[in-house]
Amino acid sequence: DHNKLALPVGTTLDRFIMRKQEDFPYATGELSQLLRDIALAAKIVNREINRSGLIDIAGAYGNRNVQGEEQQKLDVIANIRFIRALRNGGEVCTIISEEDEEMIQTGNVQGKYVVAIDPLDGSSNIDVNVSIGTIFSIYRRVSPTGNEGTEQDCMQTGTNQVAAGYVIYGSSTMMVYTTGNGVNGFTYEPSLGEFFLSHPQITSPKTGSVYSINEGSSEHFSEAMAAYVAYCKQQNYSARYIGSLVADFHRNLLKGGIYIYPATKKSPNGKLRLMYECNALAFIVEQAGGKSSDGRTRTMELEPKGLHDRCPLFIGSTELVEKAEEFMAREH
Ligand code: AHG
Ligand code: MN
Ligand code: MN
Ligand code: MN
Repeated sequence: DHNKLALPVGTTLDRFIMRKQEDFPYATGELSQLLRDIALAAKIVNREINRSGLIDIAGAYGNRNVQGEEQQKLDVIANIRFIRALRNGGEVCTIISEEDEEMIQTGNVQGKYVVAIDPLDGSSNIDVNVSIGTIFSIYRRVSPTGNEGTEQDCMQTGTNQVAAGYVIYGSSTMMVYTTGNGVNGFTYEPSLGEFFLSHPQITSPKTGSVYSINEGSSEHFSEAMAAYVAYCKQQNYSARYIGSLVADFHRNLLKGGIYIYPATKKSPNGKLRLMYECNALAFIVEQAGGKSSDGRTRTMELEPKGLHDRCPLFIGSTELVEKAEEFMAREH
């Protein structure tokens, strides 16, 4: 029972990680160190985001990434910062990132962990002062240490995740993560450079009255998808869509709601990426009592075929996701 260590609000992230490590007698501290490395990079990226209007790091970088998206300068900066922190931390052998086509070998061939990361989520919102985020997912490597990580290490099903989390750079900056024993949220105090436990044992409402979907694409929705959106309107749900998955997800996690990025005729597998967006948030939402699927199959059981696989995402309060799945099941 993961409540045995209900640490008081105000505990620092470092102390929390250390105390939780005591739950695992055989833990040798590598995962704890890895979580600290991620928190360090988050502090650095947070500072750069908060200054982006003041120093010349706003706007487009001038490259397209493997997704065919116009990379923003902060996409690239965040990518560099997280890769450097994970390389220097020594616990991670290989990284897959939204911003790099190939696996990134850190040189830490003794590293036991692999990380999949979306270094900056919500790139279209960077220059307009709207919340953005970072999403990460952590696996234990399956190949023997002593060599570089392999594709098998990087393309494990979501059920193999040992930890997952996100950072939301919003009105306050928070880090929310799980290691499989519940979900805990930490709020950053910049003047002290510390994350403090502010949202212990987050549990998501079983239902809600918020739906998040880009209705600008509704001309391309399937009939079943259109029928479910009509149902949400009949239920008088509120439409909330920020355009940053992390921000929409975080609000729905705390208040109840459903976020959908569906398959459309233009994007038959949807837009969001399985390894570093969907699986990470699916692990978190399930640990908080919610649900995540592609409309039919549990997200964490989807078999990855490529590092940048896309999949439709239906994620949030259990009852809302199950209702949406009922509609999608009517689709022949
Ligand atoms: P990213 O910025 O990491 O590429 O992700 C953007 C994603 C997600 O954050 C957001 O919910 C979604 O793209 C918005 O897509 P649309 O503009 O197509 O709705
Ligand atoms: Mn992107
Ligand atoms: Mn993203
Ligand atoms: Mn991104």
